[in-house]
Amino acid sequence: MAKAKTLYACTECGGQSPKWQGQCPHCGAWNTLVETLAAPAAARFENVAGARSSVTPLASVTPRATSRIATGLDEFDRVLGNGLVAGGVILLGGDPGIGKSTLLLQAGAALGAAHRTLYVTGEESAEQIALRAQRLGLVNAPIELLAEVQLEAIVAAINATAPEIVVIDSIQTVYTEALASAPGSVAQVRECAAQLTRLAKQRGVVVIFVGHVTKEGAIAGPRVLEHIVDTVLYFEGDPHSSFRLVRAIKNRFGAANELGVFAMTERGLRGVANPSALFMSQHAQGVAGSAVVATLEGSRPLLVEVQALVDPVQGGTPRRLAVGLDAQRLALLLAVLHRHGGVDTSGYDVFVNAVGGVRILEPAADLAVMLAVCSSLKNSPLPSKALVFGEVGLAGEVRPVQRGQERIREAAKLGFDTFLIPNMNKPKQVQENINIVPVDRVDEAIGWLRG
Ligand SMILES: Nc1ncnc2c1ncn2[C@@H]1O[C@H](COP(=O)(O)OP(=O)(O)OP(=O)(O)O)[C@@H](O)[C@H]1O
Ligand SMILES: [Mg+2]
Ligand SMILES: [Zn+2]
Repeated sequence: MAKAKTLYACTECGGQSPKWQGQCPHCGAWNTLVETLAAPAAARFENVAGARSSVTPLASVTPRATSRIATGLDEFDRVLGNGLVAGGVILLGGDPGIGKSTLLLQAGAALGAAHRTLYVTGEESAEQIALRAQRLGLVNAPIELLAEVQLEAIVAAINATAPEIVVIDSIQTVYTEALASAPGSVAQVRECAAQLTRLAKQRGVVVIFVGHVTKEGAIAGPRVLEHIVDTVLYFEGDPHSSFRLVRAIKNRFGAANELGVFAMTERGLRGVANPSALFMSQHAQGVAGSAVVATLEGSRPLLVEVQALVDPVQGGTPRRLAVGLDAQRLALLLAVLHRHGGVDTSGYDVFVNAVGGVRILEPAADLAVMLAVCSSLKNSPLPSKALVFGEVGLAGEVRPVQRGQERIREAAKLGFDTFLIPNMNKPKQVQENINIVPVDRVDEAIGWLRG
C-alpha cells in the first residue's frame, strides 16, 4: 500500500509543519506536534451522512428509533443507560488487569446469540481468549474472534462479515499503515479511533474500544478519544478487593455518573444489584475518624464510610492526602473547619479515604469528611449508627443536597438511626426511633460531635 503523505499538526493551535520539531513554529508551545494524515481533508472528515447535507428544520427530521440492545449483564446495561445503541461508540478504560476483557467477553457472549459479535484482539492471542472463555464457562459462546492489529485489515473484516457489535481490545494496539508513528502513539490512536468511529456511524454497528489508563489516570494517548466517542466508561475500585465499579463519565445516550457494581469471581464478573452496604468496614462499635455518608452516585444511594487520620506533623510541612475524594476539596474543607469551626489542623498531617476504592465526586460528602477529621483529631467516635451528609460552603453554611429523603430511607433500611443532615433536608415526618439532627452551620455539627 502506498504511504499516504503525513505532516505534523500542533495540538494547541492546529498549525502544521512538514517535519517534527520540539517547539511549534506557529504558537511556540512545546511538544505539541503530532503526526497526522495529509490526505485531502474532504475524504477524511466526510460527514456521517456520507454526502453533503443541507440545512433542515429540526421538526422535519425523523429521529432514528434507538432501540436498545441489552447486553445481558444488568449492571453493564445500567451504566450504558439501558443497553447499547446501534451506531454507538463506547470507550471502556481502566487499570491493567481490572477486568476489561472479562467484562466484554461476557457481554459479547451474551449478545452474540441474537446479534453478530466480532471480538478483535490485539493484546492476546485467540488461544488466550479461548482459555479465558473456558474459565468463564463460555466455550461455546456464539462470538467471532479476530486476532489483528492493522486497521485496514480490521475494517475489511467488518465490511466483509457485517457484525452488529465490534469489540476492539485494545485501541492502543491498533495501527494504520498510513502513519509512520508507533502503535499506541497519540497520532495512531486518534486516527484509528476516528476511522472506526466513522465506520460505526455509517454502518450502524456498535463499536466498543478498550483503552488503557496511564499512570496519571487518563486514557493513554488522547483525551481527544473522549470527545470522539459517545460514551466513556471507566473501571474503578480497589484492585485488592473483589468489587469492581464501572462509571459512565460521559454518555450521549444516558445519564453520566451512573455506576455499575460487580464482584470479580473465578467465573467472571457478577453484577451486584444491591450495593448500598458494600463500602463500609464492619465495626461493632463506633471508631474515631470514621463517618458514613449516603452518596447518590448514579441513580442508587450508596453508603460509603469516610475515614480520616489526623496526626501531628513529624517535621516538615503538613501532608494532606485524599484517596477516593478530591484533595483540593479537602484543603478547602480544612480551611472552613478552621475559620468557621475553630478547629485548627495546621500542625497535623491529614489523610482521608473512602472505603472500598469507591470515588466520591459529590459535595454531599463534605460534612462527613469534616466530621471524620474532627473525630480523629479529638479521638472521639461518632455514634455507631450515625449517618452524615451535606455540602459545606465557604461561609461555613451547610447546604442541602438533592434527594435527601431517599438517602435517609436507604440508610434507615440498613439500621442507621441517627442522621446529621442539612436543616433544609429535614424530612417533614420521620418514623419513630429515628433521630434527626438538622444543622445550618458547620459549628453546630462540630458542637454535636463534642456534645
Ligand atoms: N483463575 C482466575 N480466578 C479468578 N480470577 C481470575 C482468574 N484469572 C484471572 N482472574 C481475574 O481476572 C482479572 C483479569 O481480567 P482481564 O484480563 O479481563 O483484565 P483487563 O482489564 O482486560 O487487563 P489488561 O489491561 O491486562 O488487558 C485478574 O486481575 C483477576 O482478577
Ligand atoms: Mg485485557
Ligand atoms: Zn502551535
